Amino acid sequence: MSEKPWAGRFSLPTDKFVEEFNASIHFDKRFAEFDIKGSMAHVKMLSKQKIITDRESEEILKGLEIVLTEIKEGKFIFKTEDEDIHMAVEKRLKEIVGPVAGKLHTARSRNDQVAVDFRMYLRSEIGEIKNYLKLLMKVILEKARQEIDVIMPGYTHLQTAQPILFSHYLMAYFEMFKRDYQRFTDLLKRLEFCPLGAGALAGTTFDIDRDFTANELGFFAPTLNSLDSVSDRDFALEFLSSASICQMHLSRISEEFIIFSTSEFAFIELSDDYCTGSSIMPQKKNPDIPELIRGKTGRVYGNMVSLFTTMKGLPLAYNKDMQEDKEPVFDTADTLKASLKIFAPMIEKMTLKKDKMYKSAKLGFSTATDLADYLVRKGLPFRDAHHVVGKAVAFCLDKKIDLSDLKIEELKGFCDLIDDDIYNFITVEASVNSRKAIGGTAKVSVEYQIEQGEKFLSEI
Ligand code: ARG
Repeated sequence: MSEKPWAGRFSLPTDKFVEEFNASIHFDKRFAEFDIKGSMAHVKMLSKQKIITDRESEEILKGLEIVLTEIKEGKFIFKTEDEDIHMAVEKRLKEIVGPVAGKLHTARSRNDQVAVDFRMYLRSEIGEIKNYLKLLMKVILEKARQEIDVIMPGYTHLQTAQPILFSHYLMAYFEMFKRDYQRFTDLLKRLEFCPLGAGALAGTTFDIDRDFTANELGFFAPTLNSLDSVSDRDFALEFLSSASICQMHLSRISEEFIIFSTSEFAFIELSDDYCTGSSIMPQKKNPDIPELIRGKTGRVYGNMVSLFTTMKGLPLAYNKDMQEDKEPVFDTADTLKASLKIFAPMIEKMTLKKDKMYKSAKLGFSTATDLADYLVRKGLPFRDAHHVVGKAVAFCLDKKIDLSDLKIEELKGFCDLIDDDIYNFITVEASVNSRKAIGGTAKVSVEYQIEQGEKFLSEI
């Protein structure tokens, strides 16, 4: 067991199990590259401010470069006894450059160091997530364009409600993923402030230049309050919340794909390379991927609740509880990235069973509202129209036919305002295409949504 950098006031070495329990290196090693970049900026600032000499700075920087290369090449050995990534890097630096390594930690604490590492890590992860979201939006838009005319039933309460275009259905998810993208972009704005230089909690006695380090690390400005700088994890909570919303969107569309690929619905067929079979039932083709994405939503929510709970009772400033902040964020970032990555090609490759969708759209009296609207346009109050159509539906239910199968005399029997032109209104095509106002399911409206979607994608 090597002596800890903080062991000066201790008379006993750390208990072996305590050492393991206390260590975070097995997960915060993910911060390695950011930790080193943060240290490089800090060292440059220390020499610029004449807190260390230029020569010392050069030696430390050279050493840090070597450590960085070792990390990138997978040669760095992570040891539990080093406790965390910050101490592991510093220890290796000392092995390479000697005692001058000890000057790196001047005017800095692990508390501001971990705060800056975490922010840099999240900025990079959010960048990747935004790219996956963009790709997914592109695929959705492309599919909507290809299948623009396909009619399907629209539901409320999972009961047939009104016919819609499948492209309209898909573009609903485009809107959701657009908001997710915007949420992540918003969050990045709050990740623009650099906590490095806040010290342990109260700032530092050295004449440091925090604007310089903030700028070196690509932040807009330094954070303004040292207590807040080391104890703020809002950005992680915001990330976990935004990720939960995004994963929830993926889960909802997954749920629909699972239902739509049953033999009862049979609206879509997922590509064979995105499904698996059963070891006992030869006929089975299971939608494992959407099921897994729906299932993983549980852990993404769990991670969010976990960190909210960790943070809720913490006094200012840093507390070791906060070491528990990283694993939920890592797990959520990994889960969301994988889910987004797999979703785009799954949509791209799925096929639509258009006839079945069309037939289903005609079932369930999906054009009943259109018949009522027709009567309203002829002067009948909506409540009365609703009643008339209700009677017609009951009649059809009894005869096991659709409204559009009713003969004109039969229709007139329900209300003498009905004329021959009624058939121009109660087909599913007419129903869809009459909803032309912005946001409706008519083809022109979906075309407008696609156009706006393209504009959004071209501007991000
Ligand atoms: N490993 C620690 C963490 O992840 C780094 C900060 C430690 N600070 C301290 N005062 N013990 O939170």
